[in-house]
Amino acid sequence: MIRALLEELRLSEEEMGPLRRVLPGPEPELTLPADGDGAGDVARDGNGAGAGRRLLRVCDTLLDGNELRYLTECIESNWISSAGRFVSAFEERFAAAVGCAHGIACASGTAALHLALAALGIGPDDEVIVPTFTMIATANAVTYTGARVVLVDALSESWNLDVAQVEAKITPRTRAIVAVHTYGHPADMAPLREIAGRHGLALLEDAAEAHGAAYRGAAVGSLGDAAVFSFYGNKIVTTGEGGMVTTNDERLARTARRLRDHAFSADRHFWHGYLGFNYRMSNLQAAVGLAQAERLPQLVAARRRNAESYRRRLAALPGLTLPGERPEVVNVFWMYALLVEDEFGCSRDDLRRRLAGRGIETRTFFIPVHLQPIYFRRHRGEPYPVAEELCRKGLYLPSGPTLREDEIDLVAREVARSGRAAAGA
Ligand SMILES: Cc1ncc(COP(=O)(O)O)c(C=O)c1O
Repeated sequence: MIRALLEELRLSEEEMGPLRRVLPGPEPELTLPADGDGAGDVARDGNGAGAGRRLLRVCDTLLDGNELRYLTECIESNWISSAGRFVSAFEERFAAAVGCAHGIACASGTAALHLALAALGIGPDDEVIVPTFTMIATANAVTYTGARVVLVDALSESWNLDVAQVEAKITPRTRAIVAVHTYGHPADMAPLREIAGRHGLALLEDAAEAHGAAYRGAAVGSLGDAAVFSFYGNKIVTTGEGGMVTTNDERLARTARRLRDHAFSADRHFWHGYLGFNYRMSNLQAAVGLAQAERLPQLVAARRRNAESYRRRLAALPGLTLPGERPEVVNVFWMYALLVEDEFGCSRDDLRRRLAGRGIETRTFFIPVHLQPIYFRRHRGEPYPVAEELCRKGLYLPSGPTLREDEIDLVAREVARSGRAAAGA
């Protein structure tokens, strides 16, 4: 079995040397410019802070539907733990929206990943293929099961896993493939399904960032044996913290449901025939989740509208690679993510610093799994050039559902100004 690290794992100077070219610099300080200094500031609204306008965060939340009403019902009825009507109502509503018969609400997306892998029977001595370009939770959930993480590189077009590399990584120990729908763009599921079917592997979707996305007309979440979603505060549907497993496989759903709740036995309380977890979602979280799920189309439309507004303003700027949308998918642009190419005029980190000084928050792309201290030594020497370039060049801009057109305009103008200023300097 695995043992948690009780001391931070630090890479040596010799190990860190080549990584420094790729790793992002320190987080820049986010400050609003002094009033009226020529940036074309937009007027402050109710969320405002500082002199002329609000800080433009990478993501904010929109909680002005039924969220408060449902939460109040939880408090007034005293149903605040995982019993209560909202958990099953949220599960049913969300699962139906992604075309699945079953939804198993969890404490987080990471818990949902672990739960799904456990319910699929993944354990020690197994191998699971995951993209190296993902949030570390995808790989960690595999590690929690005791299975070994096997990595594949990303595609430079969609930033999703390179399906052509998957087959070469399959061994007699391989049990599953996890496809991540990165930043809201669905992975190429048809060839993955074909490979998984031919080799008898489970196919799990990590749809943590892709609520409402679709592939060949079908919603993500219904495209593999099971899928997982995250409802962390910056996700398209949020419960603050939370996650869900969706599946059409009744047996899998039953096992996941049972493992989620300490694997309590149905006919004798405090009798446990499996090693279970407590990964339950509370009624409070599910109350927020149900209200959010009721307006999933609106929340997705806001992300897509933001993306179109950014695209119109940034497409002509030299040195930026904007996010794509393959013809067979609906990309939900969870975050408006782009690459700052070497021709842009300034580096990705310089651009971030300039924007931060104008009150515009950005976030760098994931640091690939194979460069993370806890995975580095095991994967040392494995080449993942695309993921490393994404890590070096990528950032995402403010992308939340409350972003206004004039705010997107401001961000785009500041991006353009940074490029021009650096080029003309
Ligand atoms: C691709 C991906 N997988 C898994 C997770 C984990 O979700 P959570 O933070 O809810 O545990 C995230 C979270 O941000 C993610 O982006």
